[in-house]
Amino acid sequence: MRMRAAVLEEFGKPLEVQEVELAEPRAGEVLVRLVACGVCHTDLYTASGADPSGYAPTVLGHEGAGVVESVGADVASLSPGDHVVTLFSPQCGECVHCVDPRTNLCMAIREQQNKGFLPDGTTRISREGDGIRHFMGCSTFAEYTVMPEIALAKIDPEAPFEHACLFACGLSTGLGAAINTAAVAPGSTCVVFGAGMVGLGAVAGCRLQGAERIVCVDLSADRLELARSQGATDTIEGGEGAVERILEMTDGFGADYTFEATGNVAVMRQAVEAARMGWGLCTVAGVAGKGETLDVVPRLLITGRRVAGSSFGGVKGRDQVPGLVQRSMAGEIDVEPFISHRLSLDEVNRGFELMEAQNGIRSVIRFDAAL
Ligand SMILES: NC(=O)c1ccc[n+]([C@@H]2O[C@H](COP(=O)([O-])OP(=O)(O)OC[C@H]3O[C@@H](n4cnc5c(N)ncnc54)[C@H](O)[C@@H]3O)[C@@H](O)[C@H]2O)c1
Ligand SMILES: [Zn+2]
Ligand SMILES: [Zn+2]
Repeated sequence: MRMRAAVLEEFGKPLEVQEVELAEPRAGEVLVRLVACGVCHTDLYTASGADPSGYAPTVLGHEGAGVVESVGADVASLSPGDHVVTLFSPQCGECVHCVDPRTNLCMAIREQQNKGFLPDGTTRISREGDGIRHFMGCSTFAEYTVMPEIALAKIDPEAPFEHACLFACGLSTGLGAAINTAAVAPGSTCVVFGAGMVGLGAVAGCRLQGAERIVCVDLSADRLELARSQGATDTIEGGEGAVERILEMTDGFGADYTFEATGNVAVMRQAVEAARMGWGLCTVAGVAGKGETLDVVPRLLITGRRVAGSSFGGVKGRDQVPGLVQRSMAGEIDVEPFISHRLSLDEVNRGFELMEAQNGIRSVIRFDAAL
């Protein structure tokens, strides 16, 4: 079939929205009509050429929500008409990691996905016979996509697509960091560094876990205001002195749980230093630049602080994303304030500009303005 898609032709250049060819889903694959898709930093990071593992041409986008149009052979868990969220982090349910509750890092299709191919090592997207690679196994800056069944989470058909798509990446990452990775205990004190999509999700996750005190740290007063509406009880300005402020606020001890959601290694260090001696757990969700390292004084660890990393919030996508979407529908997570701009596919580059200008939390592309 023919469809419109935003193609990254060359690093550092705007995406080009154009008609491309999409082949039918093969065995274990599903054709999805996209309805909404968030614009994320990872898309921009790859488009800019800064990601050393990036490739072009490719159709970017990975925060999608849409409707199943058709399924290939051997697809049992999804049918046409089902509403789905795309998962860059799939869940096969069978690999050594999927059967272990300690991790969500499914091994099933990693290798091919990282190279831009579907699990059988080929691509469904093409142009005049030349393959165009899939991005993060998703390629959702397009009217349609073909994805593995194991990379689609079936959600409540009543869920608004614009809200659901944010659970495909940043929001679930933040929520999951607090709910799964840290498993924040009720009554505890938490500090979240960064109030973007991930950090705000972590603030909401800490609130849902019953944290008593949630301190959010950011450089932007507007974002700190948003953090308050998600449950932050205190906000402080980031930068030098932030750790001292946190120690002052916690009788000199630091927080039971800290979260880093900026991608800045200096802030990661602050997040470790702001964790309490004895049992403080620092969860790192931000993605650092290639080659950067985290500098930690080992004494901080000997005296009981721990550091954990969290990919996609430890969320096992097919099992847990539907439940998170459900919690938002029940009013437990207020998603609407995260959507700052609604764009058409043709305006996708505007989404990147807004993100670079830190204008709003998330731009959401809507493929069907009537919905
Ligand atoms: N682990 C994962 O699976 C996963 C998934 C999605 C995103 N991420 C990463 O999470 C990070 C955050 O993503 P996002 O979409 O929320 O980004 P974002 O840019 O919207 O938010 C980052 C926030 O950090 C704040 N900040 C910058 N410097 C600071 C400082 N010194 N002190 C306090 N705050 C500071 C910024 O003002 C901004 O509000 C990125 O590194 C992103 O790549 C990780
Ligand atoms: Zn993302
Ligand atoms: Zn698996």
